[in-house]
Amino acid sequence: MQLDAAVALVTGGAHGIGAGIARRLAGLGARVVVADVDTAAGSALAAELGGVFVPCDVGRFADSGHAVAEAVRAYGGLDIVALNAGVTTGFGVGEDFDPERYRRVMSINLDGVVYGAHAARPALLARGGGDIVATASLAAFAPTPQEPVYAANKAGVVGLVRALGPAWAGDGIRVNALCPAYADTAIVNPFRSALVDRGIPLLDVDDVVDAFVAILAARRAGECWYVQPGRPAEPFRFPHVPGPRPALSRQEG
Ligand SMILES: NC(=O)c1ccc[n+]([C@@H]2O[C@H](COP(=O)([O-])OP(=O)(O)OC[C@H]3O[C@@H](n4cnc5c(N)ncnc54)[C@H](O)[C@@H]3O)[C@@H](O)[C@H]2O)c1
Repeated sequence: MQLDAAVALVTGGAHGIGAGIARRLAGLGARVVVADVDTAAGSALAAELGGVFVPCDVGRFADSGHAVAEAVRAYGGLDIVALNAGVTTGFGVGEDFDPERYRRVMSINLDGVVYGAHAARPALLARGGGDIVATASLAAFAPTPQEPVYAANKAGVVGLVRALGPAWAGDGIRVNALCPAYADTAIVNPFRSALVDRGIPLLDVDDVVDAFVAILAARRAGECWYVQPGRPAEPFRFPHVPGPRPALSRQEG
């Protein structure tokens, strides 16, 4: 895949999966805008890639708008948006529940994707369409008793993508989700040893980035691609929702 002249915005692009996506997109010829709260690391990566850094807290709608405006100002438009910034919950499942932290995590992991998609839409429409890929997680599909709030906001992203996919496809905007299993980034550091103890393998960031590129290449919409070690990434097949049946009359019942 060649992306010459494409303009890409990557939120949470300073580290981990986002940095991997930014590097790969730049390698494929795209002009990359790195958006992150970590100005030092984000600026350094943007300089390495010959791109642009924009400070951005995805939990603030104005920041998402600013990041999109900066891409358009720097490169004249926007074609690919990786809504990737995310954090873990930071509290447990019991009495340590922290409502302020809850709101903050929801604002980054769910609002950040809603805000990013809506901030990007006008710029994508101006180019006749483009791609939005939100980084959700396998936690959206599998029970995640150790991180219920993370599971909830990632399931929210999956629901959003499955709705916006068909809603915006007619405008040429392909909205999809990337749903990795545990990957080898800093986000797993708090529970890395527990994963190792349980023999749970970590994805390389490159495997996740391969799936991101496969989503772009597929050119479909409303799909949520799972990524598991040792398996080719593919769209998760959701079971059909059981349809309604005619109500039984009281006599029949
Ligand atoms: N690593 C995994 O195991 C894993 C698995 C499934 C999904 N994910 C998801 O992948 C995405 C990337 O995570 P990662 O594993 O690369 O972690 P990471 O911690 O290495 O990177 C996260 C990036 O997001 C940035 N960020 C944090 N809060 C932000 C905010 N408010 N606004 C803008 N940027 C912000 C950080 O500075 C960092 O650059 C996240 O959405 C995460 O939930 C990760």
